[in-house]
Amino acid sequence: MLLIRISSPGRVLPPVGRYWPIRGVALGVGQAVASRYRRGMTTALITGATAGIGAAFARRLARSGYRLVLVARDTERLERASAELGARYGIEAEVLTADLATDEGIASVEARLADAERPVDLLVNNAGFGNKGAFGTVPLQGELDMLKVHIEAILRLTTAALPGMRERGRGAIINVASVAAFLPRGTYGASKAWVVSFTQGVLRDLGGTGVRMLALCPGFTRTEFHQRAGMGTGNIPSWAWLSSERVVDEAMRDLARGKSLSVPGKRYKAAVAIARVLPSGKLGGISSKAARTYRTN
Ligand SMILES: NC(=O)c1ccc[n+]([C@@H]2O[C@H](COP(=O)([O-])OP(=O)(O)OC[C@H]3O[C@@H](n4cnc5c(N)ncnc54)[C@H](OP(=O)(O)O)[C@@H]3O)[C@@H](O)[C@H]2O)c1
Repeated sequence: MLLIRISSPGRVLPPVGRYWPIRGVALGVGQAVASRYRRGMTTALITGATAGIGAAFARRLARSGYRLVLVARDTERLERASAELGARYGIEAEVLTADLATDEGIASVEARLADAERPVDLLVNNAGFGNKGAFGTVPLQGELDMLKVHIEAILRLTTAALPGMRERGRGAIINVASVAAFLPRGTYGASKAWVVSFTQGVLRDLGGTGVRMLALCPGFTRTEFHQRAGMGTGNIPSWAWLSSERVVDEAMRDLARGKSLSVPGKRYKAAVAIARVLPSGKLGGISSKAARTYRTN
């Protein structure tokens, strides 16, 4: 199902170009919406924008004056988020209800990204989830849904967003992966490894286009993720937890610096650096032990 609603804060926003210069303007059409797009305001589309890291991206970008397109499955929650962001930050926040585990849901977001009259300057592919249990104990459909949301949706949404960004000579895509990308840990880790490899690979082909791409790899972050998956977190030490705000701050800083990989937090940076040089056999043992210790399965 597709539903679009715009919250109207009733005031004109200043143009924002905090992370890259605003050079282009939208194509001219004689409509009120298009005229707002002509003012040079920057638009960000965030998937999974109602909770956790996605909601933190929405607050952060709204604070910087971005117009938003919020994507998730729960329409009521999306509308609440849109109204709150509009009232608090004076921005417009469209609501786009879409289940990214379905073809129809992905297609509706693709269509929004490909709309040349309402260009999207920043795409945050953030929606994702975990399945509780080791491989073989999770129903196959759950694994397939994960691949659809974590891989196919990111592939298709990136493909839909890039032509317009290239044409305008500006834009950015943040793909939310995980530190699990660097650990051999079942379908989740494998899907996130694809996100990192895909992002860095595509970025190589974007040299000189003015378009940036960043793979964001958080460690344990306080969100609804573990609770939704029914995963225990009691054994995870408090120092291991990041806040969504910190994850987003570091991502935006790394994007502005032109990095292709962002690993928030010094401890996680060190862990990823070690993981990248360890032989995979040794890494598999460490990662299984960590999963048993922290009882996330
Ligand atoms: N939390 C962590 O420790 C952690 C660590 C590393 C990486 N990550 C990654 O960070 C990203 C965000 O996770 P989070 O921790 O912020 O999770 P969260 O708090 O559970 O939020 C997930 C968001 O994604 C949306 N979503 C879930 N399935 C969807 C689907 N099929 N279609 C569209 N939207 C969907 C949810 O809204 P609806 O339910 O309304 O659709 C919600 O807005 C994920 O990619 C996750 O893998 C998280």
